[in-house]
Amino acid sequence: MAGKIKIAIVGVGNCASGFIQGIEYYRQHPEREVVGIMHQNIGGYDVRDIDVVCAFDVDKNKVGKTLDEALYMKPNLVNWVKLPKSTVVVKQSPLYDGLGKYLSKMIEPVKERPLDELEKEIIDGIKKSGAEIIVNYLPVGSQKATEFWAEIALKTKVAFINAIPVFIASGPKWEKRFALAGVPVIGDDMKGMIGSTIVHRVLAKLTQDRGAELSRTYQLNVGGNTDFKNMLERERLESKKISKTESVQSQLKHPLPADDIHIGPSDFVPFLGNTKLAFMRLEGKMWADIPYNMEIRLDVDDKANAGGIIADAVRIAKVALEKKIGGALIGPSAYLMKHPPKQMSDSEAKKELEAFFS
Ligand SMILES: NC(=O)c1ccc[n+]([C@@H]2O[C@H](COP(=O)([O-])OP(=O)(O)OC[C@H]3O[C@@H](n4cnc5c(N)ncnc54)[C@H](O)[C@@H]3O)[C@@H](O)[C@H]2O)c1
Repeated sequence: MAGKIKIAIVGVGNCASGFIQGIEYYRQHPEREVVGIMHQNIGGYDVRDIDVVCAFDVDKNKVGKTLDEALYMKPNLVNWVKLPKSTVVVKQSPLYDGLGKYLSKMIEPVKERPLDELEKEIIDGIKKSGAEIIVNYLPVGSQKATEFWAEIALKTKVAFINAIPVFIASGPKWEKRFALAGVPVIGDDMKGMIGSTIVHRVLAKLTQDRGAELSRTYQLNVGGNTDFKNMLERERLESKKISKTESVQSQLKHPLPADDIHIGPSDFVPFLGNTKLAFMRLEGKMWADIPYNMEIRLDVDDKANAGGIIADAVRIAKVALEKKIGGALIGPSAYLMKHPPKQMSDSEAKKELEAFFS
């Protein structure tokens, strides 16, 4: 038994709720093999060894509540298991660009406080809690807020897992700062377990591995949670589109011209809730230039898709801390994230990830 892993959560939304309720589900079923993670044991750690010791948000419904209460507050939707009473009280984070045009109509933020006062409170809170890893679950488009939290990770020497498409692990300037500080970072933008990115990447690669030509492809995604609502604001989507498109392009021998590949969040359908639907089409040519095409429809719970990824990332970050490895974790980022510092095939990335902790 290797002990516990103490983590801080930034953004107490649906992903955080699914992640934490998933851990609780396995605590309630200690005999069960964990489904939904790629590795049962990483560095001696089981998912049940992960403890959230502090959490931050801006939502009036969540700040000041204990974590077990906050995680079920509107507009969160995940309700898989009942969480036991938590001693962690959700603390205030600075708002910056966290809430865009749509989310600010649904979420009322707590009154802003002077930044230096908040920053001091956050640093003290993280140190006091003993958090070793920060997981960033802010809404898409939170560039400045994510940079604030990356700075906090550097100042407190706490590892950083960036689940969102702001380029920190894959941003050369940030990566260098994490390497110099000896602080591990895994990112950016998590790749769902059976998500549209992994399915699309693998199929795109398959067409080429089989010698066929891929000439055009699209991926349209719809869902009904706040993540999808927020992504209606196209101006916040630039890095998400880059992250998702590059992830597929990286698997092709020759990247497709921009007009022949369309990948991105596409619409918000309220009644879908956390169900995400992805529609993909791949078309091209095979022997004697005869055309082929395929259409895929993926139907998944977006938050079940995300939980296991972070369960792996947290334990890998812990191993890196123990081994005193700082900077971007290349293999783990390539396997777990859509926009890592270095793209590789998923089988190559899996080998590198496993070599990392074996
Ligand atoms: N499968 C997946 O769910 C998946 C995959 C890849 C990436 N992501 C990304 O993970 C992120 C989290 O997704 P989610 O579904 O939990 O979103 P969500 O909208 O449910 O949660 C976001 C939370 O952040 C809070 N917040 C907003 N501004 C803040 C700030 N400045 N400081 C602290 N908290 C702030 C909100 O109040 C909310 O509680 C999104 O960026 C999403 O795109 C999700």
